[in-house]
Amino acid sequence: MAANAAALTPALQGRVEALNHDGWGVIRSGKVVFVAGALPGEDIEYRIRRRQRGHDEGELLRVISPSPERVQPRCAHFGQCGGCALQHLSSDSQLRIKDDMLRETLRRVGKVEPQHWLPPLAGDPWGYRRRARLGARYVFAKGRSLVGFRERLSSHVAALNRCEVLTPGVGAMLAELSALVTSLSIPERIPQVEVAVGDAATVLVLRILSPITAEDRAKLAAFGEQHRVHWLLQPGGPDSLESLDGPAPQLYYDLPSADVRLNFEPADFIQVNGDMNRRLVDRVIELLDIGARDAVLDLYCGLGNFTLPIARRAAQAFGIEGEAGLVARAAANAVFNGIGNARFAAADLSGPEAAQRCVTLARQQRESWSQVLLDPPRVGAADVLQAVAQLAPRRVVYVSCNPASLARDLGILVTAHGFTLREAGIVDMFPHTSHVESVAVLDGPEKRKR
Ligand SMILES: C[S@@+](CC[C@H](N)C(=O)[O-])C[C@H]1O[C@@H](n2cnc3c(N)ncnc32)[C@H](O)[C@@H]1O
Repeated sequence: MAANAAALTPALQGRVEALNHDGWGVIRSGKVVFVAGALPGEDIEYRIRRRQRGHDEGELLRVISPSPERVQPRCAHFGQCGGCALQHLSSDSQLRIKDDMLRETLRRVGKVEPQHWLPPLAGDPWGYRRRARLGARYVFAKGRSLVGFRERLSSHVAALNRCEVLTPGVGAMLAELSALVTSLSIPERIPQVEVAVGDAATVLVLRILSPITAEDRAKLAAFGEQHRVHWLLQPGGPDSLESLDGPAPQLYYDLPSADVRLNFEPADFIQVNGDMNRRLVDRVIELLDIGARDAVLDLYCGLGNFTLPIARRAAQAFGIEGEAGLVARAAANAVFNGIGNARFAAADLSGPEAAQRCVTLARQQRESWSQVLLDPPRVGAADVLQAVAQLAPRRVVYVSCNPASLARDLGILVTAHGFTLREAGIVDMFPHTSHVESVAVLDGPEKRKR
């Protein structure tokens, strides 16, 4: 049953014991209740707003005894906007809670414990988000369009004036962006504005379900000039992008420590947090422990974000990725950077044939691979673990955006394939959200000396 019961339930009191995976407080008084905005250790007043089979959802009415870790959220929209879940928790406490969550999940799901815990990798927790898909919705009752993230407790678009986690230029323009969309001739036919921020240019992709007028184009162009953003229009599927006005700028980001520039397209996967990505790439390179004679296989390689810095150090790097467009961009990025020892292939790394496909592709390049890097999507890398075992690298580094699939896969590598879990730790890629990015390092069963 899922019914809105807010009007029916009286105010209740309870002690918050933990945070769940969405960053909501957990109360265990009989049936478990999740309460957004409540922190561990706090006594709160709440009421049930939704009943579900396994748990109820509560609405926070009052914090009776605040946690010493509670801070004033920087953003005026925190609580209403679903973009952030943890702004009411100090940054140090966010790191500690994510670190605890990783430790607990590795133990519970994977039955593994690293020999050494890596210190959290963290940077500036504000103004970091360089990719976003903002919803747009015309609200007839208000006669205006809203542009922003979805609300925390509904699928409606939150009315945002600014955002503290988007890169500063974009975060500051949200009110004007909403006004701009409202002023167009088809505000109710615009469902989305996608944001892609490179080191030297920002692109906004306007999804349009009907054609726009010459006057609309002029308004968009004026906004673009004022805010130094370039507009792309998307009238259909992802391949229908057209530049509003003149050639679109080439988006790119630099990885200075590897002397690598990654060119990308607005809809491409890039790590959301540019500063943390630079730190993560450096850490991964260090953890891979690459020597000049090593050959490194990079699975789920995207644009070559890790492959190209790896190739700067290794004898050979080979990236495999499922999206053909990303593979083409990765290969072009190798040429652009003058890197001749990186190769790429497009292949699906999921399904029953994935492991064999992966081994065949890798062995077509060379017989043995000294290191393997895995950076899979949320579902993890279960289908290629057999391939990793078969290729017998001396080191595996696993970058993960989901502790549960990471723990499962580490458990398999350790228990079924004899790897040793050497190190693990969190990477604060998504401050103020409940997402937990992490990195783990394993040694192969027959660790070979270089
Ligand atoms: C977390 S991203 C990492 C990308 C890259 N390592 C980076 O740092 O930019 C995961 C990548 O896995 C790719 N991917 C998702 N499912 C896949 C599959 N079944 N087979 C191969 N690649 C897949 C996505 O296209 C994406 O590029």
